[in-house]
Amino acid sequence: MFSPDDEAPEHATHGGALRARIEAAIVEAGGWIPFAQYMDLALYAPGLGYYSGGRQVFGRSGDFVTAPEMGGLFAATLAQWLDGFLPDDARTITEFGAGSGLLAAQLLAEPRLADIRYRIVEVSAPLAARQRERIATVPGALERTEWLSALPDHLEGAVIGNEVLDAMPVHLLVGHGGGVLERGVSLVQGELAWSDRPATVDALAARAVRRVKTGEWPDGYLSEVHPRQEAFIATLAERLGQGMLVFIDYGFDEATYYHPQRAQGTLRCHHRHTANDDPLWQPGAQDITAHVNFDALDAVAAEAGLEGGHVSFARFLLDAGILDVLGRTPADDPARYLPLAAEANRLLSPAEMGELFRVAVWGRPM
Ligand SMILES: C[S@@+](CC[C@H](N)C(=O)[O-])C[C@H]1O[C@@H](n2cnc3c(N)ncnc32)[C@H](O)[C@@H]1O
Repeated sequence: MFSPDDEAPEHATHGGALRARIEAAIVEAGGWIPFAQYMDLALYAPGLGYYSGGRQVFGRSGDFVTAPEMGGLFAATLAQWLDGFLPDDARTITEFGAGSGLLAAQLLAEPRLADIRYRIVEVSAPLAARQRERIATVPGALERTEWLSALPDHLEGAVIGNEVLDAMPVHLLVGHGGGVLERGVSLVQGELAWSDRPATVDALAARAVRRVKTGEWPDGYLSEVHPRQEAFIATLAERLGQGMLVFIDYGFDEATYYHPQRAQGTLRCHHRHTANDDPLWQPGAQDITAHVNFDALDAVAAEAGLEGGHVSFARFLLDAGILDVLGRTPADDPARYLPLAAEANRLLSPAEMGELFRVAVWGRPM
């Protein structure tokens, strides 16, 4: 079991209640729940989950740092790219899972995006409140922003999400006797424990199971499938009019995702800037993520009539003009230039985010 020295002090308030909620769900379901249901409760149980319980999760004082939290270069580059693509009559950005609200605030502060309308779809009430506070610090930005509690029927302009797909619950499948079993969570002597059952219909509906022949999963080969992500992108794609979907996340193409040597999948947890692979440790006190199978999402978008694909984060940022944005700050002003150069290095370096992250862009052909 993962056991860092510094357990989250604020977890003491919610941890017991969340744990009881998870145990009740297991008992109610007859002794076993799919991992996706566990992940959903651990991250999003109303008022108790990791994202829904009001915990400080972002930035240096939280558990992890995302691209917008590193500085302003990412947002400035994205703003330049969006400005070039957003049609004159659809100057709207809809952001899913806006986290601390920093990216929204940075984009709203960009002079070149002064005419855009910003919409945020956020599943966590405490985070929505935090986003409002952050956006209020940009003059005139609050008036241009609205929060939506449900997915809009019609989408246009840019629909963006940074590290949102990796926070969606996944099902775990494990190779067994030429087929697969589903790995879920049960209670053994009062403790949360892994156990395997015949796969649920939901997990078997996932594209990866249809595309990767299950017989190719040797006994014990463990990986994730993402029916929730696939359904999410399918819905956005169906509702998109003029515009594009832009999703940035950790992930791979399908062959890399289900490579024989990646025999234990991609599930990772983050607590106080330390990664571990034990999602059953203190539910609600740590983030739980899984990589994205971008090829599967390409196929989902294509089925809904969208065109596009995915490239590495570094390729996307270079094409979007990150070096021009960096070049606007004179190198002979080291106090301003050096932090930006360091940020560029983290965003572009293959060993940091440049190759580990990918950017998918899908749009309706004109
Ligand atoms: C890892 S955080 C990323 C936050 C932010 N985008 C950033 O880059 O700092 C994941 C975010 O996605 C949100 N989220 C997860 N599923 C969502 C969904 N279906 N719709 C909207 N937001 C969602 C979470 O509440 C959280 O704000």
